[in-house]
Amino acid sequence: MIHPVILCGGSGTRLWPLSRKSYPKQFAQLNGETSLFEQTVKRVQRPGIADPIVVTHTDYRFIVAEQLQTAGADAPTIMIEPEARNTAPAILAAALSLHEQPDTIMLVMPSDHAIADEDAFDQAVRVAEQAAEAGKLITFGVTPDRAETGYGYLELFDPITGTVPCAQPLKGFVEKPEQAIADEFLASRRHLWNAGIFMFRVSEILEAFEVLCPRLMMPVRRAVDGARRDLDFFRLDEAPYKMADDISIDYAIMEVCETLSVIPLDCGWSDLGSWASVWKTGDADENGVVQNGNTTSIDCKNTLLRSETDGVQLVGIGLNNITAIATGDAVLVADMSKSENVKTAVKMLKAEK
Ligand code: GDD
Ligand code: MG
Repeated sequence: MIHPVILCGGSGTRLWPLSRKSYPKQFAQLNGETSLFEQTVKRVQRPGIADPIVVTHTDYRFIVAEQLQTAGADAPTIMIEPEARNTAPAILAAALSLHEQPDTIMLVMPSDHAIADEDAFDQAVRVAEQAAEAGKLITFGVTPDRAETGYGYLELFDPITGTVPCAQPLKGFVEKPEQAIADEFLASRRHLWNAGIFMFRVSEILEAFEVLCPRLMMPVRRAVDGARRDLDFFRLDEAPYKMADDISIDYAIMEVCETLSVIPLDCGWSDLGSWASVWKTGDADENGVVQNGNTTSIDCKNTLLRSETDGVQLVGIGLNNITAIATGDAVLVADMSKSENVKTAVKMLKAEK
């Protein structure tokens, strides 16, 4: 049985003003009628896959509970973090909660991605399951089409050949490289993007933490041992959890582990991490304009227009390569190529408060 662990405690600042600390992007309807989180939950409602463990921040617990219900999850576990400590403590907490079932296979998934071909994803998961049962730590890799610095890179021994997914040993893992290094990786054709999806047996990941990041073990184990039930929530004990280092799984385990394997993923994966990627994956008209119902576009090209509030009409005239997003209390207008810089704007706004 595969046990999905869905991570949804991040705050997604690059998609401001839609993504807010109180309501981050994974819960918003970014690319259709359901949220990315609901899409993630539904993606694993398949035979042989258990109801998920969802790890999230305490502020999001009711949004999570409501969206799990909408997505039709019968018996999920909602694990609550008192404070965000990043993905390594979150994954370790989920693994420790399953320690009495050491052979269980965990499928760790972020909740900020879109996947166009769900069957191809499922096929890759089944291949990964066999490799994880054989004791491997598995990552899923996507063929890069640009030198993106916001992702982790998986280095293969040889360039990928063939289209049928199979587990391959990894030579190395580099999280979020500098631009020059990302350029080299793209040119080498031996690197894949890390999709942020992982699979392993509970016993294997616990052993990896013991060896590669032992300092997380004590605080997170205490937080799990001291957890209490509160309605449907499994609340990690606050005092020890706050002592855990803030570190992602990519730095804590993946970059330092020498025995990773990768399953190539060819399923229309896209990380909807910036407005440019929302535009790129959206339903564009013949002029490359992606817009929603409350907007009007006149003579625009390669532009994203979204109004997130019914009472606010957004009109674009003669725009080219622009992102314009209106919400009830904020408006963003940006050059499409600069949309990554929204993060900086959010930092400035926070500092002014
Ligand atoms: N529960 C919990 N707690 N979830 C968290 C926390 C936390 O403290 N921090 C982040 N998450 C969730 C986010 O909501 C997201 O779904 C997922 O974990 C990944 O976190 P991100 O913060 O979005 O990571 P990233 O996009 O910078 O980088 C990761 O994903 C890339 C692919 O999109 C890395 O794994 C990269 O290597 C990878 O390429
Ligand atoms: Mg992300």
